[in-house]
Amino acid sequence: MARQNWKPGTMIYPLPAVLVSCGSSVEESNMITVAWTGTICTDPAMCYISVRPSRHSYDMIKSTMEFTINLTTESMARAVDWAGVKSGRDYDKWRETGLTPVKGVMVSCPYIEESPLSIECRVKEIVSLGTHDMFIAEVLGVLADERYIDPATGAFRLSDAGLLAYSHGAYYRIGEEIGRFGWSVKKKK
Ligand SMILES: Cc1cc2nc3c(=O)[nH]c(=O)nc-3n(C[C@H](O)[C@H](O)[C@H](O)COP(=O)(O)O)c2cc1C
Repeated sequence: MARQNWKPGTMIYPLPAVLVSCGSSVEESNMITVAWTGTICTDPAMCYISVRPSRHSYDMIKSTMEFTINLTTESMARAVDWAGVKSGRDYDKWRETGLTPVKGVMVSCPYIEESPLSIECRVKEIVSLGTHDMFIAEVLGVLADERYIDPATGAFRLSDAGLLAYSHGAYYRIGEEIGRFGWSVKKKK
């Protein structure tokens, strides 16, 4: 089958749609929906978010050099979209979405109580790329909601959380597990 050759574009999907919380305290905080995010190193644990300088959150992150990546779920989907089309300049996003900021552990900005997993980050480098600046950060700590920890095995079952994915302009609930890391090469018993 022939392929169309398109002009360059951002076509790597699906991605998580995370809520990045930022600010110097619970009282002085905001959140921004971010899809341009990912892991960039395992050890030391490092990740990135790319943010347009025009965003209200951009200056907050730049001044504290900290942010928290909060994974999101199906039940948070409406808030994720809302926080991604409205600005903290004009609204108190906590009040408008009903999400709850909680005092951070390793950083001054809050994490989001309703998120199953929150990743506290310190910015190491800001790289200007064009429309977006990339905040390269080290992970200082990970806060996992005990609701998803199996008390018997200690396993963290993120699959039970109904994680949210973003693909080509639409949101999806992550569904059925079809394999485990390494299963393709495991011998059948
Ligand atoms: C699904 C989704 C993904 C988004 N991803 C990004 C992103 O990666 N980087 C960015 O700068 N803005 C992104 N945005 C837009 C911001 O979330 C949006 O401009 C927001 O209103 C900024 O809020 P603030 O002004 O309070 O910081 C995204 C929006 C949506 C809905």
